[in-house]
Amino acid sequence: MEIDSRFLSTGLLLVATILVAKLISAFIVPKSRKRVPPVVKGWPLIGGLVRFLKGPIFMLREEYPKLGGVFTLKLFHKNITFLIGPEVSAHFFKAPETDLSQQEVYQFNVPTFGPGVVFDVDYSVRQEQFRFFTEALRVNKLKSYVNQMVAEAEDYFSKWGPSGEVDLKYELEHLIILTASRCLLGREVRDKLFDDVSALFHDLDNGMLPISVLFPYLPIPAHKRRDQARTKLANIFATIIASRKSASKSEDDMLQCFIDSKYKDGRPTTEAEVTGLLIAALFAGQHTSSITSTWTGAYLLCNNKYLSAVQEEQKQLMEKHGDRVDHDVLAEMDVLYRCIKEALRLHPPLIMLLRSSHSDFSVTTREGKEYDIPKGHIIATSPAFANRLGHIFKDPDRYDPDRFSVGREEDKVAGAFSYISFGGGRHGCLGEPFAYLQIKAIWTHLLRNFELELVSPFPEIDWNAMVVGVKGKVMVRYKRKVLSVNQ
Ligand code: HEM
Repeated sequence: MEIDSRFLSTGLLLVATILVAKLISAFIVPKSRKRVPPVVKGWPLIGGLVRFLKGPIFMLREEYPKLGGVFTLKLFHKNITFLIGPEVSAHFFKAPETDLSQQEVYQFNVPTFGPGVVFDVDYSVRQEQFRFFTEALRVNKLKSYVNQMVAEAEDYFSKWGPSGEVDLKYELEHLIILTASRCLLGREVRDKLFDDVSALFHDLDNGMLPISVLFPYLPIPAHKRRDQARTKLANIFATIIASRKSASKSEDDMLQCFIDSKYKDGRPTTEAEVTGLLIAALFAGQHTSSITSTWTGAYLLCNNKYLSAVQEEQKQLMEKHGDRVDHDVLAEMDVLYRCIKEALRLHPPLIMLLRSSHSDFSVTTREGKEYDIPKGHIIATSPAFANRLGHIFKDPDRYDPDRFSVGREEDKVAGAFSYISFGGGRHGCLGEPFAYLQIKAIWTHLLRNFELELVSPFPEIDWNAMVVGVKGKVMVRYKRKVLSVNQ
């Protein structure tokens, strides 16, 4: 009897201990230790690096089916947690800067953009500078930029002969630099200084290498040339700005908007800030747009159904508006819009977006699993991978612009952040309308004035580039024609 009661009290003590331990773990042990995301397997320390160097998209393709939409890659002492798919990425896009910030992970841009702008300044100043971008890209401004885009396209393609063969990738890259110079950098650069300035931008561009992400100030020749180019650009813009100010001249371009911008406390922008913001605009918009216009062309020239559809749309608009091509006419081009948007779904030039996390947070996957992500992790999401998720986009690797048409709207049915080529939420791209107008203006001109045929194989993806684009040449045979309403 005595033994029984001793057993009973020992048993009760055990149960009570387990219960107390459970309670303590529930209340005291940080949540983050209990439900951390699964970790990508690999050799300790450099395992993650080896996987990452093979290419982040290849790693995602291997790990997502095994681990799901939330997992951590250990890269040296860093934890990179991926949030893949709209079910888990909302926090990535919506979190305030105090929780998820860009400044640390995008620091490598500072030597290129220069001091005092964007990722070199506190969030409150950066927000004001992004307000300058927003104002410079308002519809009334876009209307005048479009006229310049159309004029640049007409001028550029007037130099093509009656027929011939060109590398479309090179041609579109070049045209977009010219257009960006006109709309963003201003008349002085476009008309007088184009060769000098584009050579300097070339050096800036070549100074942004994968190694620069980790060591932006490494004393290598490419970084040295980058720094010299930046100083020269700053001098060129200082002269232009001073001359505009002294002559009280005002132009219709982004440069003018930045010169006229004022911070909340009434302080005007400095010449160095204006230069830095223009460089940032060019870096954000130039490769991204030229890559997208090339992919759009490659897909259209390989898909008769959509080539005919965009041509038909052009004819209808010509019937309605004659030869007029302006902001409002471009805005009516829904078919062309969907064709560009689909090329961009399959090939977003920014394949990986990053944040640095400053507070713990939790996410629930579509399978209902909950994970707690501790602060201190780098948080990543990938437009290139998420834009091809099979549960969001039907037959995801197929070029199918109709997936965005009324009735299907695959980019919306699974909720916001299903289609993330332009990011979204708090830091969504401010140049999206500008980019579409520019690409539409170019393709409107090509569709109305040329018969085009892709003569090289369908292009591959250049995964090694910082802004991921088209590998090799995209050879196109052209012949002049005049698209007429009665054709
Ligand atoms: C096809 C063309 C373009 C693509 C695919 C693209 C893509 C993106 C993406 C993915 C982001 C979000 C980055 C992140 O969340 O970390 C972004 C942000 C941004 N983009 Fe674009 N972009 C394009 C064109 C442009 C153009 C033409 C401009 C300006 C002229 C521009 C200006 C910006 C700015 C200022 C931001 C920062 C917004 C913020 O952080 O609040 N972009 N872009």
